[in-house]
Amino acid sequence: MKTLPFKNKDEMPILGLGTWKSKPGEVYDAVKHAVRAGYRHIDCAAIYGNEKEVGAALTELFQAGEVTRENMWITSKLWNNAHYKDDVPEALKKTLNDLGLDRLDLYLIHWPVALKPKKMFPKKGSDFISLEELPVATTWQGMESCVEQGLASHIGVSNFSVKKLASLLKTSSIKPEMNQVELHPFLQQNEMLAFCRENNIHLTAYSPLGSKDRPKMLKRKDEKSLLENKVIMEIAAKNACSPAQVLIRWAIERGTAVIPKSVNAGRIKENFNALDISLSQQDMDAVAQLDIHERYVGGDFWIMEGSSYTFENLWDEV
Ligand code: A2P
Repeated sequence: MKTLPFKNKDEMPILGLGTWKSKPGEVYDAVKHAVRAGYRHIDCAAIYGNEKEVGAALTELFQAGEVTRENMWITSKLWNNAHYKDDVPEALKKTLNDLGLDRLDLYLIHWPVALKPKKMFPKKGSDFISLEELPVATTWQGMESCVEQGLASHIGVSNFSVKKLASLLKTSSIKPEMNQVELHPFLQQNEMLAFCRENNIHLTAYSPLGSKDRPKMLKRKDEKSLLENKVIMEIAAKNACSPAQVLIRWAIERGTAVIPKSVNAGRIKENFNALDISLSQQDMDAVAQLDIHERYVGGDFWIMEGSSYTFENLWDEV
């Protein structure tokens, strides 16, 4: 499989299985189907509430000799309520225990948003800690200590703006090697792509299919469907493939990792087969026209009265 190279010569398979929204009862089979279909990269997070089931599937696959640990790339993410420096390795140890692993390939700060240690999700403004009080640079020291302790091979961030990445590049000893952000034809983030290329930071595209299974509270009534977009459907018809495969291949053509989520064996395979299709320059140019800067995951849950987080300071966009 095509891979993204890291400075130490590690290689991350460009296509991974997303597990956000995969229910504990579904994700165990999904991981097994994925590995049997050829996936060698699973994207996880503590907050998805399903790492134990992902771990159970991985452990069985390893024990049965269907795949080796060395041939798998496992990513997970630090939740917002463990941003104090000393809490970071502890949170990672809990994730490792759930996943049945002794090391992650990649550990990411899930959001540039800090919550008080006992709060999983904020209900009121006082549940947050501002970034002035607990700066990302401090949390990053905890991430660096995870590498130093051998708990994670690589570290990075998620949902970071160019501005926040640039600031982290200045203060960090171990540089962030990944930013996982929402990326798809409606939110192409070309400036982010250029900045990351210049600074040796890889990008992973989340919600590449438009995450239509998001909880209702995160959906807008008028939101546009990527999978049913006319241009995407036309390109799919022309290439005798599915719209999902066009979306996945588009991300790969741009040199970003991509983590479509599915718990359906057929769709897991279909998504994997996007590795075998190719899009012409004409197809890529047509998709380039679709950018409307539409976020499916707007971070609305961090914005409330009394919270120091706003849409402007979260995304650093006006
Ligand atoms: P399911 O898990 O039942 O397959 P995203 O990766 O952008 O978060 O999107 C995930 C959503 O897209 C889920 O609802 C998932 O459903 C669905 N999905 C995954 N693969 C495909 C596909 N090949 N065609 C259509 N829908 C898909």
